[in-house]
Amino acid sequence: MALSYQDIEKLLGFEKPLPVTKDWSAAPDFLKIISDYCLDNRPLNIVECSSGTSSLVLSKCCQLNQCGHVYSLENGEEYVHKTRQQLKDFSLTGHCDVIHAPLKSVVVHAEKYQWYDLKNFPDVEIDLLVIDGPPGFIQKFSRYPALSLLNNNLAKHCAIFLDDAARDDELALVRRWLKECPEFASEYIENERGCAILSRHPER
Ligand SMILES: C[S@@+](CC[C@H](N)C(=O)[O-])C[C@H]1O[C@@H](n2cnc3c(N)ncnc32)[C@H](O)[C@@H]1O
Repeated sequence: MALSYQDIEKLLGFEKPLPVTKDWSAAPDFLKIISDYCLDNRPLNIVECSSGTSSLVLSKCCQLNQCGHVYSLENGEEYVHKTRQQLKDFSLTGHCDVIHAPLKSVVVHAEKYQWYDLKNFPDVEIDLLVIDGPPGFIQKFSRYPALSLLNNNLAKHCAIFLDDAARDDELALVRRWLKECPEFASEYIENERGCAILSRHPER
């Protein structure tokens, strides 16, 4: 049976329903995958590309773990305020910084993209990277720049979770990431929208 948001609320001990926006919030099965990882591995620095329901779930895991902090890159000013308010409503403010990171032009491997401005991003070593933005409608291969632009910050044992990995763009960009960064291995979880997980080969 498919997981529901209520299942996630119950699993993590949320005392009220999670705020969810249909088609925009990460699906319950993706939230379960990232929260299981978080609870099992207790990452210290968690970075997510795009804020929302996932920020609440990751912050709740940090609260339960009594360690870790979420840095959430959010391009839309409206969503920066919305997520900050939701964190406040759930008493999770201390576990997450929502960073306003408007999209700006970047060049990756000689191609132009719109991607988060990292000017306000603290120079932390990333143990867990969750990629659920920028939205696909912005451009082709919208999430491709993430690995190149954050690579220098990734901890040796960092894990990367990509949502919506069943889409053609994401399937292609994961192939490209693996070709460009052969030190990474990938796993694919066939769930509602597809989830790709990348981690470095242990021997590399
Ligand atoms: C897939 S959504 C992010 C979802 C987030 N990780 C979550 O679990 O809620 C990607 C981006 O879309 C934008 N967004 C969120 N809700 C939206 C809406 N209802 N309409 C348009 N854009 C939206 C925000 O800028 C957000 O960072």
